[in-house]
Amino acid sequence: MNHVSTEPAVPVVSDEFAGVDTVDFYGGKPLLGSVDVRGAKNLVTKAMVAALLADQPSVLGNVPRISDVAVVRGLLEAHAVLVTDSASGELTLDPRGVKSAHFAEIDAHAGSSRIPILFCGPLLHQLGEAFIPDLGGCRIGDRPINFHLDALRAFGAELEKSHEGISLRAPRRLTGAQVDLPYPSVGATEQVLLTAVRAAGVTELRNAAIEPEITDLIAILQKMGAIISVETDRTILIEGVDSLSGYRHTAIFDRSETASWAAAALATRGTIFVRGARQQELMTFLNVYRKVGGEFTVTDDGIEFRHPGSALQPVVIETDVHPGFMTDWQQPMVVALTQAEGVSIVHETVYENRFGFTDALIDMGANITVHKEGIASITRRVPRRPLEQAAVITGPTPLHGATVRVPDLRGGFSHVIAAVAADGQSTVENVGIISRGYEHLLPKLAGLGASFEPRVG
Ligand code: EPU
Repeated sequence: MNHVSTEPAVPVVSDEFAGVDTVDFYGGKPLLGSVDVRGAKNLVTKAMVAALLADQPSVLGNVPRISDVAVVRGLLEAHAVLVTDSASGELTLDPRGVKSAHFAEIDAHAGSSRIPILFCGPLLHQLGEAFIPDLGGCRIGDRPINFHLDALRAFGAELEKSHEGISLRAPRRLTGAQVDLPYPSVGATEQVLLTAVRAAGVTELRNAAIEPEITDLIAILQKMGAIISVETDRTILIEGVDSLSGYRHTAIFDRSETASWAAAALATRGTIFVRGARQQELMTFLNVYRKVGGEFTVTDDGIEFRHPGSALQPVVIETDVHPGFMTDWQQPMVVALTQAEGVSIVHETVYENRFGFTDALIDMGANITVHKEGIASITRRVPRRPLEQAAVITGPTPLHGATVRVPDLRGGFSHVIAAVAADGQSTVENVGIISRGYEHLLPKLAGLGASFEPRVG
């Protein structure tokens, strides 16, 4: 196997959840204090893959200790990329010895992550072959990969499906393509960027995602030598180059973690300063926060989020692609909306099944009805998508302790803040999954004054 062991390194994931699957929370207290938010999970993992495109090492700063980073590191090491890290959260990624990995090893490292699909373009350029195991990720609908596969075929990749997954080959250099995405998918946009930068000729990507994490990835690729222009109307033009050099980059802050702590301040009647958060990339979130009655102060170092001390107001939210309200923000905000006076509605338009977490909130006393077929709204900015859902939340309802099981990453954080807000004891099971995207969750909660006890063993 091509696994390359590096020097003994600081582990990429904190071991706070080692052996811990269940945490007992003693709720009813406000969260007060500050937390640090680091590089965005949804940029850092892609930036690590981008390092594969270079002929020199890259250095990525502001890397959080989360398990999705550990997964990508494992996959890179399986392909003989040398990865070293520093205590300050800087990763050095050296792709000069890159080799193919056995599919079983890719499968083992990938676990439940969907990240292997983004290795395809870089590996096809470097090695002429790649492999995608059966993909996991959070259980939030079918999460198909058809946009990715269609784009890879358009670049000239040959795909063969087998029991284990999909094998890809590039019999000759990949060539620039015209790709028109049926939906501005974040992952498919990244797929096209990571493939087009070294393909021969020009790629025109239409209906691209333009999330700030995508812009940060484009900035990284530009540092590496790529030529990418973001045109109007979600069109991105990429002029392929023969080779790319390494990059040095500090990852953009995690917008979803920031929104999670902001919602936690509302749900627990607390005040949380999120150090490292920036206003520019959160404007849509901040507008909704203000409409709910939440208060915030922006400083050069971060943003302080506060419960107003008076009643929270109900809102209607529609999740959307950027610059809309992110789907990853709705779960913690739903917890806060259980405390608003009146009826709130959350339309989920990005994923077809992302309200599973509300069952646990209902067990804790929330009044939430999920309409699986969605409900009409005259304010829609995107055409209705099949199978989308809507949640109607009627508040305020006091939350009380319950035993709940974490279904996925963002739903899991919402369960934790509900448990911290609720009166009495709550038991939250399957908490380890939250370390996929939240660094040092338990120490941060302790620092904010939450009372809890992890069950070890
Ligand atoms: N879609 C397809 N076919 C495809 C790809 C996507 O139909 O080939 C559909 C999806 O089923 C979904 C929609 O397009 O309904 C949007 O999916 P997208 O590709 O934009 O999402 P993603 O790249 O799989 C990333 C984040 C998600 C985040 C979404 C939307 C990562 C690793 N994941 O997912 O983050 O919710 O973009 O912003 O970057 C999370 O952090 O908890 C998380 C789920």
